[in-house]
Amino acid sequence: KTVLVLNGPNLNLLGTREPAVYGAQTLADVEALCTKACAAHGFKLDFRQSNQEGVLVDAIQEAGREQTAGTLAGVVFNAGAYTHTSVALHDAIKGSGVTAIELHISNVHARESFRHHSFLSPVVKGVIAGFGVPGYALAIAALAGMA
Ligand code: DQA
Repeated sequence: KTVLVLNGPNLNLLGTREPAVYGAQTLADVEALCTKACAAHGFKLDFRQSNQEGVLVDAIQEAGREQTAGTLAGVVFNAGAYTHTSVALHDAIKGSGVTAIELHISNVHARESFRHHSFLSPVVKGVIAGFGVPGYALAIAALAGMA
């Protein structure tokens, strides 16, 4: 089965963006780590990034259809700032029925109060936050544990 690793706004800037918060690794490094983690669990990887909310909604809906068809194990979703703003992404996860893991590189609860609320947490299987880029591998392992 495939795992969709879906990254939202500004994650294309990883490596240069606030390295004290997000580390020095680039999105290409994240993809390489996810490729390894997926291979270790017998998954194929579909790795994507978009700065646009509607593109992320479309990707979640597509993932839901693939999961229903039996070809997708679930989604590892770092929605970036849309985590804290997007009813549309909440509705997409809920409406598609896809198994999603919410992922944050940083510990959002140790940061500004506007990052403490997530519209996604009520509709995902679980949340991984604060473990840096290796958190992506933890999320993929979690999906493997559910399979
Ligand atoms: C983030 C945390 C969000 O609050 C922020 O807007 C991001 C990245 C993280 O991975 O730690 O863009 O999701």
